[in-house]
Amino acid sequence: MKTNILVIGATGKTGSRVVEQLRKKGIEPRIGSRKASPSFDWDDKETWVKALNGIERMYVTYYPDLAVPGAKEAIQSLTYLAKEMGVKKMVLLSGKGETEAEACEQIVINSGMDYTIVRASWFNQNWSESFFLEPIISGEVALPLSDVLIPFVDANDIAEVASTVLLDDSYNGEIIEVTGPELITFRDIVTMISETTNRNLNLYNISLEEYTAGMKEMQVPDDVIWLIEYLFSHVLTNPENQKVVNDIQRVLGRKAKTFLAYAQETAKTGIWNQVATV
Ligand SMILES: NC(=O)c1ccc[n+]([C@@H]2O[C@H](COP(=O)([O-])OP(=O)(O)OC[C@H]3O[C@@H](n4cnc5c(N)ncnc54)[C@H](OP(=O)(O)O)[C@@H]3O)[C@@H](O)[C@H]2O)c1
Repeated sequence: MKTNILVIGATGKTGSRVVEQLRKKGIEPRIGSRKASPSFDWDDKETWVKALNGIERMYVTYYPDLAVPGAKEAIQSLTYLAKEMGVKKMVLLSGKGETEAEACEQIVINSGMDYTIVRASWFNQNWSESFFLEPIISGEVALPLSDVLIPFVDANDIAEVASTVLLDDSYNGEIIEVTGPELITFRDIVTMISETTNRNLNLYNISLEEYTAGMKEMQVPDDVIWLIEYLFSHVLTNPENQKVVNDIQRVLGRKAKTFLAYAQETAKTGIWNQVATV
């Protein structure tokens, strides 16, 4: 089917949900993924031209994070190419309290294309679709900064906002900040997941050094360790990140989803009750 909307990261946490939202509106977007045809690979610029051909609007999520070395150059090159190829509007997923992500936002803001920036705090789905899932399954959660307040946001809310602003030009030129409706800690989260799953989860508050040493022991790749260490040491502790913003309500006309509602729904899927493999 012919489409003029591209979703980059279409198989990821927010991208897959943006695709769902667009389909609900009767739009079949082009899938930006290494597995799609045409494929899109951040590490292979030759794939970009085919993926962008005929596209007018696009939702862009960078992987793994706009803060990693090379992200700024990739966003710069993609933005330039998109403008050259006639893309009219770009919606960029960015991270709250990340200086490097803000540099990427500026590239899009100054691109000459219409744009909306969707700046998100940490996602609820990190606990079910990403690096916090495994410790939950094992029942032993060891994390630094267990009492830092974070406005965890739901990926479904982000996707609903992103698909709305992608189609609605009244949000052009805006930075929309998407956070959950409350500030919660890792400790609160582990308690909520314990209660909704009827499991006894243990939380250990460890230092960042201990956390990093644990990742090295588990042979986590160095670039992933660098990113996680950066997220804990710079993003989580940034006071800018510890604020609730009402932009989800402003765009969607309803309140943002609570972590408890997400935990109740996710517990029902059984994903947190799997048998640990290690
Ligand atoms: N997670 C959070 O809490 C959080 C908070 C704020 C902002 N963000 C931002 O959100 C963005 C996405 O993070 P996420 O954690 O939600 O990841 P994600 O979107 O779930 O990441 C997976 C997606 O990345 C794609 N991908 C991976 N490597 C790729 C490559 N070389 N070329 C093309 N696509 C590739 C995958 O596509 P295929 O495997 O199908 O190719 C998949 O669609 C990041 O820029 C991050 O800064 C995340």
